[in-house]
Amino acid sequence: STKTTVFPDGFLWGGATAANQLEGAYRSDGKGLSVADAMPGGKQRFQILGSDTFNWEIDSDKFIYPNHRGIDHYHRFKEDIALFAKMGFKCYRFSIAWSRIFPKGDETTPNEAGLKFYDQVIDECLKHGIEPVITISHYEMPLHLAKEYGGWKNRKMIDFFENYATVVLTRYGKKVTYWMTFNEINSAFHFPALSQGMVKATGAGDYQNVFQAWHNQFVASAKAVKIGHGINPDMQIGCMIIYATTYSIDANPVNQMATLAQNQEFNFYCTDAQVRGEYPAYQQRMFDKYGVSELEIGADDLELMKTYSVDYIGFSYYMSSAVNETAEEDDTVVGNLLGGVRNPFLEASEWGWQIDPEGLRIALNELYDRYQKPLFIVENGLGAIDKVDENFYVEDDYRIDYLRRHIEAMSDAIKDGVDLIGYTPWGCIDLVSASTGEMSKRYGFIYVDLDDNGEGTMNRYEKKSFNWYKQVIETNGQEL
Ligand code: BG6
Repeated sequence: STKTTVFPDGFLWGGATAANQLEGAYRSDGKGLSVADAMPGGKQRFQILGSDTFNWEIDSDKFIYPNHRGIDHYHRFKEDIALFAKMGFKCYRFSIAWSRIFPKGDETTPNEAGLKFYDQVIDECLKHGIEPVITISHYEMPLHLAKEYGGWKNRKMIDFFENYATVVLTRYGKKVTYWMTFNEINSAFHFPALSQGMVKATGAGDYQNVFQAWHNQFVASAKAVKIGHGINPDMQIGCMIIYATTYSIDANPVNQMATLAQNQEFNFYCTDAQVRGEYPAYQQRMFDKYGVSELEIGADDLELMKTYSVDYIGFSYYMSSAVNETAEEDDTVVGNLLGGVRNPFLEASEWGWQIDPEGLRIALNELYDRYQKPLFIVENGLGAIDKVDENFYVEDDYRIDYLRRHIEAMSDAIKDGVDLIGYTPWGCIDLVSASTGEMSKRYGFIYVDLDDNGEGTMNRYEKKSFNWYKQVIETNGQEL
């Protein structure tokens, strides 16, 4: 590329993963089951989780559960982190599996073996000069909490989370500066199973529960900020949302208003609560629209939210969305958690996600204009089917092209004045997909020899994008 890019010194180049999608070892060393352990593999995953009857049962006769083995990172983390170091990673975003630390979630004493595992992961990163960036809860709450307490709509969850956050922030807080509380907290708007541990059988169909669960999560997140800053005043604790830049299909004011409303509801509701520390004025309109009455709010909740708002905004960006309120025919496209209508100006990935690098520049501007807080792109990337040659080499020019265009858009946003602190592309090593439980939907710079049926050696191989990304980091984004 001939474009001149600008990235500040110390920019955090790295990669991102989540425990349940790569660790495997789902019952090792005292680990309890998590909601992710109850998610079957295959394209029907979301349909099963979203059905009226599903209530977190694990049926190994009927389904396979790829998260149980992941890519066996639990036993291969040293090899994997060494590969990240070879690419020159400045940081590595991963999550802690809550159920390794508190197997059921409601215990008072943590599982020491689980804590030891993350001691080793963190030390391995630091040994290579890689800054750990930790998500406290990434779609993997203990299954027991979802089944027995009905997930986050239950206020008791605040105490369980506080207990868990206190343990991990205390244990690792002197070594780890960057944290995030809940992964893609706003995804609950469409899919409360992952981030709120709620399915239809436990009330997820009712927005009263979704908003109550959010409130409980906002309070829990504020408590984590309070605890973290008490342990290490330099600690940076962020929120984490899934951002989908949202366009109106045309200049019709009706569509413009619908777009504005969708932005508020999907993109901004959670950040307004976690960054401004206040519920937005449009909340009442949402309550009216979704049939929500007054929430159960504790005496100190709102003050906690206001005082302990987050330090930065972490977000994932894969695709944009378009709104056509006046459409006569349904032109909905599939997306990650947000569909929207087909945008004639964009191409889509093999999974139908509409690819939009310029939309990332817009996202960065929209978020920075609204909040003036540092931004951290903690997920981005292209899920694609990779073909290996006889040496297990993958020429993934399509992935390089996707990433290059998004990195250029980041640079443009920095020139626009946005304070962007880092970039961790998703699934830097191939792992289990969150929405479909497939291995064949790959994002990595590192190929893992494992297929959808669990066959393969699990050996790791560098793809073409591996050396490309190494050079991007080496030149601080100059050579794309
Ligand atoms: C985000 C999640 O929604 O997107 C990740 O935080 C997930 O956990 C990623 O893996 C990509 O989605 P998918 O469905 O392609 O794995």
